[in-house]
Amino acid sequence: MRTVESVLQEKGFELSPVNLAEAFARLDDSNDAVFYATDRFVSHLDRTALDAVEKVIGDLVVEEAPVILDLMAGWDSHLPASLRPARLVGLGLNRNELDRNSALTERVLHDLNADPQLPFADETFDIVLNTVSVDYLTRPFGVFREAGRVLKPGGLFLVIFSNRMFPQKAVKIWRESGEEERVILVQEFFERSGLFEAPKDFASKGRPRPADDKYAGMGLPSDPVYAVYAERKGGGNRGKRPEPVVPYHGRLGEDGLEARKKVVRETLCCPHCGERLKKWLVPDNPFAQTWDNDYMYICFNDACPYYVRGWDHMHRDGNRGSSYRLMYHPEKDRCFPIPVPTPKALRDGIVEDE
Ligand SMILES: C[S@@+](CC[C@H](N)C(=O)[O-])C[C@H]1O[C@@H](n2cnc3c(N)ncnc32)[C@H](O)[C@@H]1O
Repeated sequence: MRTVESVLQEKGFELSPVNLAEAFARLDDSNDAVFYATDRFVSHLDRTALDAVEKVIGDLVVEEAPVILDLMAGWDSHLPASLRPARLVGLGLNRNELDRNSALTERVLHDLNADPQLPFADETFDIVLNTVSVDYLTRPFGVFREAGRVLKPGGLFLVIFSNRMFPQKAVKIWRESGEEERVILVQEFFERSGLFEAPKDFASKGRPRPADDKYAGMGLPSDPVYAVYAERKGGGNRGKRPEPVVPYHGRLGEDGLEARKKVVRETLCCPHCGERLKKWLVPDNPFAQTWDNDYMYICFNDACPYYVRGWDHMHRDGNRGSSYRLMYHPEKDRCFPIPVPTPKALRDGIVEDE
């Protein structure tokens, strides 16, 4: 199948938006060392998202005692406790943040936008990590080539990102892209370097925001976590790394799911989360007359594991940026998935329960 990525490659990337003038300009193009001289001992993501970051790193780093470079490091490298690197080199711009990061065995101050060349010998590292920082690179192609150069063959470059940023320091193409487009953009950084196997991607989004988070109560889900990753060519150990899995903590779990599905007519509760389904008016739309009944019942619980899992399932199936909710069809007495592109979708059709 011809994908956007394959068409770009065929055309030598000439159609890519990265070629637009100003693609890597920033609102604040002043010296990064000055901006990052201010200590920021903050969490860039909520706890649920940080747990997902740790899990992705833990799943993908399969090497025993790996030598790791944390590129654009801060005060936390988000390594799971089970991971024991032989060396963990942090390269960033803030001395105090690097000093506070007790997992690091070496600390390097280096401005990648001033000089993308990394101060390390070829084939030094098993792993290069870059967490919630790729949006600040004004010369990403040079940095990705360098990441490939300093990796051993078969070594992994793992780029993790979300949707939060310091907008004044993020490049224009990142600010103006949607979340799914950013996945394609990072894939292009990998592909253009010519040094990596085909990049893979992972997404975890739509999970409930922790109740004690400072943005709880704003109706926002947990910060999304995206990862694009690839091995340096020449390693021959493809297939050795598992796909990352971030578990769901459903309220009811899978036990008894089939039995709960059978009694939805009586309970009108979601078999996955137990929340009461909402009566939903089928839109009177001549282009979508799939159902001939007037009402459905839909689970609008944003923490429902069925809906939360749906973002990842749809992403893996190529339907990026959407999930599905559980819908109960009262005439057919059956549960179906109904696709939703956003958490707000379909809510207009909710009518009060009688
Ligand atoms: C949002 S923080 C992320 C820190 C860390 N990776 C994490 O996951 O918490 C962005 C980091 O990128 C680093 N950084 C930003 N611009 C940089 C540049 N031009 N060269 C090197 N590092 C840079 C900063 O020092 C800062 O620690």
